[in-house]
Amino acid sequence: KKDEPYVIAFSQCMMDDVWRQAMLLEMNIEASNYDNIRIVIADAKESNETQIKQIQQFIDQKVDVLIISPNQSDSITPIAVEAYRKGIPTIIVDRKIGSEEYTTYVGGDSYEIGRIAGEYASAFLPENATIAEVWGTKLSSPAQERHLGFINGLKKKNVNIKTVVGNWRREIAKKEVSQLEDFNDIDLVYAHNDVMALGAREAISERDSALVSKIIFLGVDAAFGKGAGLEAVANGLLNASFLYPTGGDQVIRVAMKILNKEQTDKKYILNTAVVEKNTARTLLLQSDQLINYQNRIEQQKRNIDMLFQKFSMLRHSLFLILSL
Ligand code: FRU
Repeated sequence: KKDEPYVIAFSQCMMDDVWRQAMLLEMNIEASNYDNIRIVIADAKESNETQIKQIQQFIDQKVDVLIISPNQSDSITPIAVEAYRKGIPTIIVDRKIGSEEYTTYVGGDSYEIGRIAGEYASAFLPENATIAEVWGTKLSSPAQERHLGFINGLKKKNVNIKTVVGNWRREIAKKEVSQLEDFNDIDLVYAHNDVMALGAREAISERDSALVSKIIFLGVDAAFGKGAGLEAVANGLLNASFLYPTGGDQVIRVAMKILNKEQTDKKYILNTAVVEKNTARTLLLQSDQLINYQNRIEQQKRNIDMLFQKFSMLRHSLFLILSL
C-alpha cells in the first residue's frame, strides 16, 4: 500500500455546471501540493440511482477516503451511511445527508445565505411586494435551507411569493419562469443559484426587455468562470450574489488530515459574503490570476514528467550499452 498513492474518491452529483467546475479546479490546485494522492471522480449526472451505484463501487474498491456531494439528501443517505459503517472515512460536501453518520462535513451555510439574502432584499421591496423565488431541486438541502433562511430574513410583511422550481439549472429556470402568467408585478427575483437567476432574467427580458431594469435580480454562488455569477454581477446582469464557497481546497485538506490520522472537526462551515458589482470585479481579477498560476504549475509538472522520461530513456540506453 505504502508505495501506491492514496485514492480519494469523489462522488459528485453532477459535473456539468460552472460552480462544480470551479470546485474541481480548487480541488486540483490543493491536490497539486501532495504527490501521494490520486483523485478519482464519478459523475452521477443528477441521478440518485447512478450516484448510489457509483458509491457502491467505491465501497467495493475500498477507497481510502470517500467524498460525497449528494444529489438528493434522502435518497443518498443510506449508501453514504453504509460506506461510513464499513470503515471508509466519508466527507460530505455541499449538500447534506439526513444522518450524522459521516466523518466530516464541508460546506457553506445555506440557511445563513438565505437569511442574509432576505435581509438584503428587504431594502429594495415596496409594501405588498411580489417576489419570484426560483428554487433549486426541492429535495436537496441547500434549496430547502436557502428558502427557509430567506423567509426568516425578510423584514417586510405581506410579501407575495411566486414559486418556481428550476432544479439548479439555467434552462429549466428560464422555461418555468417564462410560463408565469404575468411578470409585471414582480419586484424582485431571488434564485437559489446564479445560473437560475440568469435564466429567469432571460425569460423576462425575452417577453418584455424594458422590464428587467425595474426588477432586482439576486442569486447565490458568486462562482468564477464563463457564464457564472461573478461575471454576471460584474456585468450588471444580476444586482448581487451571495458567496457560496465550493470548499474544493478545504475538502482536500481535510482528506489529507484523515489520511495522516489527524483529528478532524465534525463540520467545516465556510463563510459567505454579499457580492455586488465592485466586489465581483475584484474577485474576478483574483480568480483569473489563480487560474493562471494553476496553468503554470501544471505546465511545470508536465516539464518535470518529460525530463523524467528522458532521464529514464537515457538510463535504459546506458544500461544496454554497458551490457554489450
Ligand atoms: C451546482 C449547484 C450550485 C449550488 C449548489 C447547491 O450544482 O447547483 O449552484 O449552490 O449546487 O448544492
